[in-house]
Amino acid sequence: MKTIVLANHKGGCAKTTTALNIAVALAAQGSRVLAVDLDPQGNLSAVFGVDLEELEESRRTSMRLMLDPQGDFSEYVSQVRPRVDIIPCCLDDEAEAVITAADSRELLLKEKLEPAQAGYDYCVIDTPPSLGTPTLNALAMSDLTIVPIDTGLFALLGIKQLLRKVTRISKRYSPQMQILALSTKYTSRQKLDREVRERVLARFGEDYVFQTTVPKLVAVEEATATLKAVGEAHAESPATFAFRKLVKEIREVLGDEEVGAQAIVRNAK
Ligand SMILES: Nc1ncnc2c1ncn2[C@@H]1O[C@H](COP(=O)(O)OP(=O)(O)O)[C@@H](O)[C@H]1O
Ligand SMILES: [Mg+2]
Repeated sequence: MKTIVLANHKGGCAKTTTALNIAVALAAQGSRVLAVDLDPQGNLSAVFGVDLEELEESRRTSMRLMLDPQGDFSEYVSQVRPRVDIIPCCLDDEAEAVITAADSRELLLKEKLEPAQAGYDYCVIDTPPSLGTPTLNALAMSDLTIVPIDTGLFALLGIKQLLRKVTRISKRYSPQMQILALSTKYTSRQKLDREVRERVLARFGEDYVFQTTVPKLVAVEEATATLKAVGEAHAESPATFAFRKLVKEIREVLGDEEVGAQAIVRNAK
């Protein structure tokens, strides 16, 4: 299982949308995906159809899993698509406070998901708009950290701080981690969007920015509003093609082109 983390403490830069769409696209190509929501806002859980009110009662959440010494991850998983399971999240200040105070607090998730390694090809983790302990737990098990950067004046604010944290965690716990920026909500016709992308390329270096840009399109928002990935709602949308291309790049970066092909064969059997 390889772990893909969406991280950027700037809200609204399309972390959740990207997590949803790559999880569904990977599964559509035959991979087995474990989605993990670490954001107490529960957006990824909600778009995957999890009932957040019920979840507040049952507390079968990613944060409670991290605090459950005996519990197995499988008790926290719901299947939301063929080949996509989710460990959801909802508002739980108490759990978040305990996680933040725990010993070895950055490794809680990695340890709890060790037994999931064999059952999935990819783990896709959505993080909250903060660099707190839940996000650090995601980074500590990351093979590929994707930093979605939307366009607009404030897009690159705070990136230095983010990269500093990512580097610290990566050095200590996940030296294999690769980090790439992704242009999201991108309109190539707009000068500001192109300028921001130039700055992203300059900051990260060409090799560390996905060639794929995800276009800003109502189809993406509409799909999310009806609890679907854009590919499920609009098969011919340019955004559907963009996410497919992104997944191809992700597999290349992770050296996994073969895995995709094998998974398709497995799926066909
Ligand atoms: N490619 C896109 N085109 C249009 N709207 C988008 C696109 N990606 C994300 N959005 C919208 O931008 C807003 C923020 O996205 P979201 O994924 O929730 O960001 P984050 O998780 O980083 O806070 C949402 O309303 C979402 O529907
Ligand atoms: Mg989000």
